[in-house]
Amino acid sequence: CELSSSMGERRRRTHAMLFPFPCPGHINPTLKLAELLHSRGVHVTFVNTEYNQERLRRRRGGGGELRSREGFRFEAVPDGLSEEERASPDRTVKLYLSLRQNCRAPLVELARRVARCEGVPPVTCVVLSGLVSFALAVAEELAVPAFVLWGTSACGFVCTLRLRQLRQRGYTPLKDESYLTNGYLDMPIDWIAGMPTVRLGDISSFVRTLDPTSFGLRVEEEEATSCARAQGLILNTFDDLESDVLDALGNEFPRVYTIGPLAAAMHGRGGDRANGHGGPAGLSLWEEDAACMAWLDAQPAGSVLYVSFGSLAVMSLDELAEFAWGLADSYHPFLWVVRPGLVAGDRGTDALPDDFLAATKDRCFIAEWCAQEQVLQHGAVGGFLTHSGWNSTTESIWAGVPMICWPGFADQYINSRYVRDEWGIGLRLDEELRREQVAAHVEELMGGGDTAKEMRRNAAKWKAMTEAAIAPGGSSYDNLDKLVDELRQDEA
Ligand code: UDX
Repeated sequence: CELSSSMGERRRRTHAMLFPFPCPGHINPTLKLAELLHSRGVHVTFVNTEYNQERLRRRRGGGGELRSREGFRFEAVPDGLSEEERASPDRTVKLYLSLRQNCRAPLVELARRVARCEGVPPVTCVVLSGLVSFALAVAEELAVPAFVLWGTSACGFVCTLRLRQLRQRGYTPLKDESYLTNGYLDMPIDWIAGMPTVRLGDISSFVRTLDPTSFGLRVEEEEATSCARAQGLILNTFDDLESDVLDALGNEFPRVYTIGPLAAAMHGRGGDRANGHGGPAGLSLWEEDAACMAWLDAQPAGSVLYVSFGSLAVMSLDELAEFAWGLADSYHPFLWVVRPGLVAGDRGTDALPDDFLAATKDRCFIAEWCAQEQVLQHGAVGGFLTHSGWNSTTESIWAGVPMICWPGFADQYINSRYVRDEWGIGLRLDEELRREQVAAHVEELMGGGDTAKEMRRNAAKWKAMTEAAIAPGGSSYDNLDKLVDELRQDEA
């Protein structure tokens, strides 16, 4: 409580408690939102799990990002996972279930405890990310409004909302394995408002199930539909990027705040300096490899392909080999993030073929994790081979970098569909990965051909529109003001 008694603290009367699902894809945008709210005079309590908080503290540098400051505190609640569950291959599912079962009461208690600190206002609203809808009950118990920062695109959110109808109308679960390959997933779905040209297979990985009791399908349905219980829905996108789908969504959700891309908004508002730790707002659960920035400095402008599959994706050893040899055969320099656990069996860089490393050593940098936003903003980077997670996609759009997409999970299919067909800034790899196609796509993106030129022109256009959206008077800028006004409406 020692940070709490200054005059500045007393002036902040609106107090937002933010709780993201504990993985980088949710933590990063939620932390950026927290920083933006704090910069607008909102008192912030940002809640991690104790496991992540400890992991951040143990990292080199001692977790300096976690330093609380006036009006902004980091707190933690236990996630309830045993060590055995944490080590299991389906730890994310176990984490989801454990949070649901164990975290409601600790969050309520935490909100009450921080409000007992001198000068700290009571929690006046709860902001949660997707996958922690149980925390809506925390807001209900505290008798304060809840807002959901849903971590995907607007089209990703609408697709998730429609999973229930797809199930009820019999599109999914699939009848048998043959439906995965017989063209069934290419069926046009023309009844989703705002998305007239979508195909069944674009909607989500969760339609690809054969299991009538599919856990993933039910969870996604429930998480999306429960957003209707919140007072507002916050999306990490901007109006011009997804205007049709946002118009349609407005009929169902009257209070949608499109304030993204959050990475750009945070940067644009001087957040890097305001947050007191120098870098872009992020709690990096893995050590960022600083040497890759020096390596990029030595590469010609626009020459490097950045390759990364986010924080959750797991690929097989065969898929890793197809990527490795496709990249080796493309002859362009590349920076590849091979995170611990990227390869099945909890493997990482140790799974890369030795002869691949020898063959590419003059034009490749392998990192276990990097400061992705900075990498994408680096002038040497000319393309991004990505799994199409929404944060990666928006960070790339903001940087004006075209993409090669290899989606595999949840919203990544619809993101890649929009990247390629609606925004014209990317190519897409077949699900069944082949090194020849990897090499050909890299050549198409990084070479100087007409397709590459067209994608670069489009990427530059979307970059400019991103900057306009987050600048004063832009849609995301104004929507953040509206959100803050809404959060503050109970202030005297
Ligand atoms: C998850 C889901 O998988 C994704 O489908 C959904 O859209 C968001 O939540 P994740 O798979 O981790 O996210 O992907 P993504 O959304 O791209 O987020 C990854 C984050 O990690 C990005 O903010 C990226 O900047 C960061 N990152 C990634 C790093 O900081 N360093 C790296 O080396 C790699």
